[in-house]
Amino acid sequence: MDFSGTLSILLAICIMCLLLLSTRKKKTWSNLPPGPTPIPFLGNMLQVEVKELIKSLRKLSETYGPIYTFYLGSRPCVVLSGYKVLKEALIDKAEEFSGRGDFPAVQMWSHGNGEARTDARTAQSPGPLPVLQDLESYRRRLLFTFPKIMRHVPGPHRQIYQNYLKLAAFVGEQLKMHKEILDPNNPRDFIDCFLIKIQQEKNNPSTHFNDETMSKTTVNLFFAGTETVSSTLRYGLRILLRHPEIEEKLHEEIDRVIGPHRSPCMEDRSRMPYADAVIHEIQRFADIVPMGVPHTVTRDIQFRGYTLPKDLNIIPLLCTAQADPTQFKNPTCFDPSHFLDENGRFRRNDAFMAFSAGKRVCLGESLALMELFIFLTTTLQHFALRALVAPAEIDITPESSGLGSIPRPYQFCLLPR
Ligand code: HEM
Repeated sequence: MDFSGTLSILLAICIMCLLLLSTRKKKTWSNLPPGPTPIPFLGNMLQVEVKELIKSLRKLSETYGPIYTFYLGSRPCVVLSGYKVLKEALIDKAEEFSGRGDFPAVQMWSHGNGEARTDARTAQSPGPLPVLQDLESYRRRLLFTFPKIMRHVPGPHRQIYQNYLKLAAFVGEQLKMHKEILDPNNPRDFIDCFLIKIQQEKNNPSTHFNDETMSKTTVNLFFAGTETVSSTLRYGLRILLRHPEIEEKLHEEIDRVIGPHRSPCMEDRSRMPYADAVIHEIQRFADIVPMGVPHTVTRDIQFRGYTLPKDLNIIPLLCTAQADPTQFKNPTCFDPSHFLDENGRFRRNDAFMAFSAGKRVCLGESLALMELFIFLTTTLQHFALRALVAPAEIDITPESSGLGSIPRPYQFCLLPR
C-alpha cells in the first residue's frame, strides 16, 4: 500500500475514534440544561464577546434561564445565575458542587498544581487578567477555547506565562532565604509552616507537601490575595469620591469610635456598623470577581431536573446574586443601607457573594475583610478625599466586564485632616 493509502486509513481510524468518543460523551451529557446551540470544535465562543464575557453570559441567562449549558470548545460548562440557584448549588449542595474547575486561559501558568490552582482574579498590569483584556478578540477566543494548544503558540497571550515566571522567580528567592534561616520552633509565616510540614512528611511518598507545591501555592496566594484587595480599595476610594456625603458619615463614625490618637483595630469593627456596611457595599457594587472561579461537580447528580455528570464544569455567576433585585432593593445603585437595618445596625445579606459561598468560599475572606477595614479606616482617619473633577462627573461603572471588574484609572488628592 502506498503512503497516501496508509494516511487515508489512519485518518479514517482517527475520525471513527473521534466520533466514538463524542457519542460516548453525548451519552453522559444527554440531560444537560438547554443553552445556545454549539458549533463543532468552537462550541459557543463565537456567540459571546469575550471582552464583555460577563455581559454576554448574563444576557444568555435572560434567554435560557438561571441554569444553562455553554460550550467552551467541546467542553460543556453549566452557568448558574441568580441568588436562588447559586444558593441551592453552592450552599445547599455544597459537597456536590465543591470540585475545582479549570479556568482555561489562566491554567496555562499553574499546570494545575498548588492551592487555588487556577485562581484567576482581577488584576492590573502586569497581572494575568488586563493581559487577557488587552488581547485582541480572536486571540482571546482561541485562548479560552483551546488553552492547551495556545500554551505553545507564540504571541502576546504568553505574557501571562512570562508574568507567572517572574513572580515564581521572586517567590523562589524568598523560599531559598526562608530555608536558610528556618527555625522550626519559631515559624514566622506561611512559608516557614510549609517548610516544617515538608520536613515532617519527608518519608511519606504520596505527600503533597513538597517544594513544587509550596512554590506554586505561594505564588497563587500572592495572586489571589494582592490584586483582589488593592482593586477593591481603589474601587472603594473612587466610589467615595463620587459620594462625598458617604465619606462624611465615615469620618463622623471614625472620629466618634476611634478618635485621632490611636490606630484602628479589628475590635472597632463591631462598633462601626456604617463602615462595615460601606465596605460590604463597595464589594457588592465593585463585584471584582463577577464570575467566581469555576467549580466542578464531584459526582453525578440530579439538579433542577437535569443530570450533571461528575467533573462537569460549573460557572457560578456571582455577580447575578450580588445584583439580584429580589435580594437588594436598589441593586444598580451604591447604597450602604443594603447592609443596615432600620436601627442603623449592620445586617448581613446572604446574597452577598463577593467571596463566593459554600465549601470553596474564598480562603482569604477574613484576611481580606480585615485589610479592607484597617486600610480604609486608617486612610480616612488621617485624610479627606478630594476629587479633581466635580463628584457628579465621576463614572463609577467598572472599566471592563471581561473576567474581572476593575475601577477606571483616576487621580485624586488626599488632604490631611
Ligand atoms: C477583596 C478580596 C478578595 C475577593 C473578592 C476574593 C474572592 C474570591 C472568590 C470569589 C473565590 C472563589 C471561590 C469559589 O471557588 O467559589 C476566591 C478563592 C480563593 N481566594 Fe479569595 N478573594 C479575596 C481575597 C483573598 C485573599 C486576601 C486571599 C489570601 C491571601 C485569597 C485567597 C483565595 C484562595 C486561596 C482561593 C481558592 C480557595 C479554594 O480553591 O478552595 N483571597 N476568592
